[in-house]
Amino acid sequence: MSKVEMTVNGRSVSGDVEDRTLLVHFLREHLGLTGTHVGCDTSQCGACVVHVDGKAVKSCTMLAAQAARAEVTTIEGLAAGGELHPVQAAFKEHHGLQCGFCTPGMIMAAVDMINRHSGKLDEKTVRAELEGNICRCTGYHNIVKAVLAATEQMGGAAKVAAE
Ligand code: FES
Repeated sequence: MSKVEMTVNGRSVSGDVEDRTLLVHFLREHLGLTGTHVGCDTSQCGACVVHVDGKAVKSCTMLAAQAARAEVTTIEGLAAGGELHPVQAAFKEHHGLQCGFCTPGMIMAAVDMINRHSGKLDEKTVRAELEGNICRCTGYHNIVKAVLAATEQMGGAAKVAAE
């Protein structure tokens, strides 16, 4: 066992974990932040995406110890001042979810994507960027619409390809 300390959603946290403890299990089981989901545990589905030092990471691929002293943001930390983050609001507005299991990971991946592309995204790029996030319900169409709408909302340029 070793002690890990990190900042999660702006709060300093610590815990004694086994060396093999994955970040996702630390978040869910030690901190009770169950908004981060586990779909596959093998780095394929993207349900577990969180931000570590501002970058999207599949938290089932990272040990809790590797996130020591990092700034971690989970889906629970995205809304601010009682307001949904623009990406969360866009998923709600554009029906970007059905069962909701993939949604936290999709949203965390989308926020990172919009930030990395300086708010300039087109449909093809959004679809390519989301290839690491699997949704078994919606066929992705409304998810892509939501990401493009959020991009505009956040002051960027979004282009929807002709269908
Ligand atoms: Fe991490 Fe599926 S649970 S990628």
